[in-house]
Amino acid sequence: MENLVEKILSLKKEKDAVIVAHNYQRGEVQDIADYTGDSLQLARIVRELPNKIVVVAGVYFMGETAAILSPDKKILIPRIDASCPLAEMITVEDIRKIRREYPDHAIVTYVNSTAEIKAESDICCTSANAVNVVNSLPQEKIYFTPDRNLAQWVKKHSSKEIKWWDGYCPVHRRLKKEDVISLKRQYPDAKFVAHPECEPEVLELADHVCSTSGLYPYARETDARVFIIGTEEGVIHRLKKENPDKEFIPASEKLVCPNMKKITLRDIYLSLKEEKFEIKIPEDIRLRALNAVEKMAQIS
Ligand code: 13P
Ligand code: SF4
Repeated sequence: MENLVEKILSLKKEKDAVIVAHNYQRGEVQDIADYTGDSLQLARIVRELPNKIVVVAGVYFMGETAAILSPDKKILIPRIDASCPLAEMITVEDIRKIRREYPDHAIVTYVNSTAEIKAESDICCTSANAVNVVNSLPQEKIYFTPDRNLAQWVKKHSSKEIKWWDGYCPVHRRLKKEDVISLKRQYPDAKFVAHPECEPEVLELADHVCSTSGLYPYARETDARVFIIGTEEGVIHRLKKENPDKEFIPASEKLVCPNMKKITLRDIYLSLKEEKFEIKIPEDIRLRALNAVEKMAQIS
């Protein structure tokens, strides 16, 4: 593995490339990355970088979002088959039908979506800013896609009329309220922190609900010593590094995203060496998707 790390570092230097990794990536992938973050942070970082080649270690829509924002760069994704099932749960036909059926609704789309779906939406949001985005829109009627749990979380924090598409994250859905109740019994002083993609009855048990990037300041600034983590286990790598005196317990052993975990150091090496797999988005779709992403950026 050391040899692979050296090869990656030397290729990175030779090609003046940068690696960014999502918080759910394998520990060794996070360690070799120049930057780690949540899906939106990564896209923003990529846009600011002067480098022409960027490897996005994350699922496909994350590479796509970076490519929407940075058409001047070569955006590489190490595994073309690392997809997000949630992003695939709605089609262009579906969203056009929503538009026809609910012409007076603003279509708000979570960034866990394809470029085509973003292009059909009025505005995007992330798990970090969804409530803010919805509340700041002039429309009182909202159609939220594709995640039903994030939609219901927003509904709890908004007076607007919200409908939603019935998509969900298959990984977060595996976490059951019984898992949390049992861990809370075992660790009565622990704080339970959850991602808004969890089921509503799980979120009801949470001391704090936040995006993957929201976890780090919460763990740092909260006095508790033990945290039960209600999101993909990859976040625990940095949480432990940043808080060696605290304990982080996965809320369920099942909170592993198989698509995120596809990317290995070898894939990163091959991605840099062969400059694959480059993300290309047709320009008309990119521009319309950019409009929805930029509108979100203006709000948050
Ligand atoms: P974040 O935007 O919070 O990083 O979440 C992305 C994701 O895929 C959650 O499952
Ligand atoms: Fe998609 Fe869920 Fe994996 Fe996040 S954890 S990338 S939403 S499948």
